[in-house]
Amino acid sequence: MSKVLIVGAGGVGKVVVHKCAQVPEVFSEIVLASRTLARCEAIQREVLELVGRRIEVRQLDADDVSQTIQLLDELSPDLLLNVALPYQDLALMDACLARRVDYLDTANYEPPDVAKFEYSWQWAYHERFKEAGIMGLLGSGFDPGVTNVFCAYARDHLFDEIDTVDILDCNGGDHGHPFATNFNPEINIREITQNGRYWEEGEWKEIPPLSVHQDFDFPGVGVRRAYVLYHEELESLVKHLPGLKRIRFFMTFGEQYITHLKVLENVGLTRIDPIEFQGQQIVPIQFLKALLPDPASLAENYTGKTSIGCLIEGRKDGKPKRVFIYNICDHAECYREVRSQAVSYTTGVPAMVGAKMMLTKKWRGEGVFNLEQLDSLPFLEALAAHGLPWHVEER
Ligand SMILES: NC(=O)c1ccc[n+]([C@@H]2O[C@H](COP(=O)([O-])OP(=O)(O)OC[C@H]3O[C@@H](n4cnc5c(N)ncnc54)[C@H](OP(=O)(O)O)[C@@H]3O)[C@@H](O)[C@H]2O)c1
Repeated sequence: MSKVLIVGAGGVGKVVVHKCAQVPEVFSEIVLASRTLARCEAIQREVLELVGRRIEVRQLDADDVSQTIQLLDELSPDLLLNVALPYQDLALMDACLARRVDYLDTANYEPPDVAKFEYSWQWAYHERFKEAGIMGLLGSGFDPGVTNVFCAYARDHLFDEIDTVDILDCNGGDHGHPFATNFNPEINIREITQNGRYWEEGEWKEIPPLSVHQDFDFPGVGVRRAYVLYHEELESLVKHLPGLKRIRFFMTFGEQYITHLKVLENVGLTRIDPIEFQGQQIVPIQFLKALLPDPASLAENYTGKTSIGCLIEGRKDGKPKRVFIYNICDHAECYREVRSQAVSYTTGVPAMVGAKMMLTKKWRGEGVFNLEQLDSLPFLEALAAHGLPWHVEER
């Protein structure tokens, strides 16, 4: 029995609330707080209708540490689950430290004015979280999140030595729009338009955006072209997979998506620096976000599947071994269950599962942790039980 404060009423937040509401024996009290109260109230109505539980809602500006501290004082939750934007991570961690509340998120901190993400800012909280006797779980979505746990499972149960990991993320779905992003457009476009980066033989290699690709046969989807991107789980997995020689992250994009993105970039609409427009300062990418479909609105007519996994090569008992550990998730089935599309669903379910691991004390520690530092088995068991079955295929 525990109380969870969920911050962020967007596409992922909605799934997290639904999934927590489905597990009343762990999440006995649920409060959803976000910048726009009306969004919280819409989720509140939907969860009452579909799950039959009434959650509490609050308005919160999570950039303001004192507001979050006030809310923690009012509610005394056991855990703060952050599914707002990466910009809010540090402010929410500060509030958790001040009131000794456990913390979980799904994406690492990004400063709003630089398109750069790395764990250094959040890892710097380790000693302070330890001293306060609280736990922070970083990146408990699908990628990062489940992909880290797949690697931990391979390291601890399938291999003696791991040489290479390719994380492969495919959205084989169709939402019917010429161009839309599947999660927050600003965060998504910042991620895709920066240089690609991967790690090989002890060093980071940087490449121009979308310049390296491979065609991969994704289970449940078929062959798709996937491009190397930098993704945050690479940074922590390099530390926690001993003997690793190379790790890369690939994501699929269709030609139509890439063409749109190039045009938007060429005309300056993906810029993150402010420009003067009719006497006001505007940030082009924020203006673009206002024009693009809200990712949550894509759910109703979305068809097809996501297929995401880790292709891992190494040795077991002296013999070479190659496995693909993956999950397939169907957009329409997600809509039927929680009125969301599969990209939000595959992030929201592991966020709930990570929270469940912490609240039931299956995962416990003082300080901040990435998922591969914890026991993979209880997490993977719960993941399958709560809607994301996973498979291991020898290739
Ligand atoms: N690990 C993974 O696999 C994975 C995959 C996808 C997404 N993610 C992460 O999941 C998070 C949520 O993504 P999403 O697609 O759900 O985004 P979203 O739909 O844009 O939702 C973000 C929510 O946060 C709220 N918010 C923004 N700033 C806030 C503030 N200062 N105070 C309080 N609330 C604030 C927004 O409020 P408004 O409604 O007022 O705008 C919105 O409701 C992001 O951090 C994203 O990077 C992780």
